[in-house]
Amino acid sequence: MANIIIVGAQWGDEGKGKVVDLLAGRCRWVVRFQGGNNAGHTLVVDGQKVVLHLIPSGILQPGVRCVIGNGVVLDPGVFLHEVDALAARGTNVGPERLLVSTEAHLILPWHRALDRARERSKGDARIGTTGRGIGPCYEDKAGRRGIRLADLLDGSDLRARVVAALERHNAELQSLGEPPLSVDAVLAELAPCVERLRPYARAVPALLWAAHRAGEGILFEGAQGTFLDVDHGTYPFVTSSSTVAGGACAGSGVGPTVIDEVIGIAKAYATRVGSGPFPTELHDALGERLRAVGHEFGATTGRARRCGWFDATMVRHAVMVNGLTRLALTKLDVLSGMGPLRICTGYYGLDGVPGGADQLARVEPIYEDVAGWDADLSACRRWEDLPEACRAYVARIEDLTGVPVALLGVGPGRDAVIVRDPLFGGT
Ligand code: GDP
Ligand code: IMO
Ligand code: MG
Repeated sequence: MANIIIVGAQWGDEGKGKVVDLLAGRCRWVVRFQGGNNAGHTLVVDGQKVVLHLIPSGILQPGVRCVIGNGVVLDPGVFLHEVDALAARGTNVGPERLLVSTEAHLILPWHRALDRARERSKGDARIGTTGRGIGPCYEDKAGRRGIRLADLLDGSDLRARVVAALERHNAELQSLGEPPLSVDAVLAELAPCVERLRPYARAVPALLWAAHRAGEGILFEGAQGTFLDVDHGTYPFVTSSSTVAGGACAGSGVGPTVIDEVIGIAKAYATRVGSGPFPTELHDALGERLRAVGHEFGATTGRARRCGWFDATMVRHAVMVNGLTRLALTKLDVLSGMGPLRICTGYYGLDGVPGGADQLARVEPIYEDVAGWDADLSACRRWEDLPEACRAYVARIEDLTGVPVALLGVGPGRDAVIVRDPLFGGT
């Protein structure tokens, strides 16, 4: 089995969880390498829906070991809550198959409070974060003052670390009109987590190296999407981690030579949650219809997702910055009955995607009109089952992006897919 990186090729919520769950049935390891519980990955198995925020989407496949890598920011309470919820539904979440890197940085109460207070104070200029403390936690990591899982488990100077953090962060919280946090309250919140987390903590790189040497397939599960990447996204309307394929190596401790394939997940249209530029956004009734039919409401915050046309220019850029070898195109079924469709093939006066949110906010998309289709796709399981216009739509996306579409999504369920490639078990 190959070692495969899976990343979002748009602004997140492309259906990564579903594709990872599906591919995990063919490998031994699934690794999260960045982000935290800002992610919401939805799996629908046997009609039952499970939303995962931190635990890798391989957890519902027995025999798969799930790893939370060093690049992830871990909220201890959220992790344990997710463990309990999975255990309650009968999923094995024991430490023999769920491992957390000792180097992962912890999201602590001041990170959540700062994230929310800063967003409130920004008013209309807010980023529209998930409020989970992601940005402030990565700031402390890069500032070399973060607290890692290893520090929590060691415990010897935890109080001193919390005191130092609150000296800095309470000042900002108070300047934003928020109450300061108390050292004792923070320590009391963490205390019950320590012994519960301990069995999960591991030195991850050696484990993954051994797995690779043994030829066990490793799947790297990206969160967010290419255009939320802190370097390659629509800065500053981005998350605070490296969501692109390159982040998988740094965020888990494997080298690039270990990677065989990089698969980009894209929706058959486009969505975005939060603020920031979105050139193909639809502000009309059609946008509302996409939202209603596609159930485009955030899996983490419940916010309505902004909806628009498929932007081949952006996905082509995602092919470049991730080195995508294949695409999986999800939610094709949602486009049934939408009337004639459009694909963005470029922006007037520009070659490619401009850097920075300001420029991107001003671009005017060039559209190609393509035929739509009315047939319900949800029962289609073979390429030949799809209406001709639908096949032409997919073929045009392959042309414009330069990569083959290896998997098509025609419904939320694990098996609601059309497989076009041996990597996914097709022929
Ligand atoms: P992720 O964050 O990339 O894992 O994606 P989310 O789970 O946030 O959002 C994707 C949503 O679309 C979820 O509700 C999935 O169940 C659903 N979904 C995934 N693939 C398909 C598909 O092919 N068709 C339909 N109709 N829904 C899908
Ligand atoms: P998955 O993994 C969609 C967006 C937020 C906001 C920006 C920064 O489910 O695809 P943050 O809380 O990360 O500081 O917010 O990023 N965002 C997502 N949008 N899907 C996600 O994850 C997201 N995670 C963060 O809406 O615009
Ligand atoms: Mg999501």
